[in-house]
Amino acid sequence: MSVTTNQPNISAIDAALAIASRIAFNSVMITIAQPDKVGTPIVYVNSAFTQLTGYTAEEVIGKTPGILQGPKTDQAVLHRLRENLSRGEGFHGLAINYRKDGSEFLMEWKIAPLRNDQGQITHFVAVQREAPMREAVS
Ligand SMILES: Cc1cc2nc3c(=O)[nH]c(=O)nc-3n(C[C@H](O)[C@H](O)[C@H](O)COP(=O)(O)O)c2cc1C
Repeated sequence: MSVTTNQPNISAIDAALAIASRIAFNSVMITIAQPDKVGTPIVYVNSAFTQLTGYTAEEVIGKTPGILQGPKTDQAVLHRLRENLSRGEGFHGLAINYRKDGSEFLMEWKIAPLRNDQGQITHFVAVQREAPMREAVS
């Protein structure tokens, strides 16, 4: 019997998506959704995140994405993010973030919720990239 198939099963696709994240040009971050607690702890970042921010996975797992924020981070953007996520919606925005070495850059990121079979949000998935600074002026 042939061991190849034209119909890839789900686990092969899951494994392929994990590889896609590992080799992606964009930063990927996954956090846990904790409805009854403040903050969303990071459970996964890919190597593009390390390239972008200077933080290794070991340094950020268990912390919140707030570690990227600082004095120039636009609080109105974070307010909109919170509103969107609390309504179960996604988010797309830009804000000044800070690398591990303290240098600032404009982060553009998108977030989508991941739901379980009961429809409850268990995680948030983000893709992140550096945007040209001029996009901050609007
Ligand atoms: C999946 C995910 C990714 C996030 N990525 C970023 C990011 O790249 N930069 C940023 O400034 N905030 C990011 N945030 C927003 C911060 O987590 C949030 O502003 C911070 O944790 C404070 O939120 P709180 O005041 O509701 O606890 C992200 C949030 C989530 C859920």
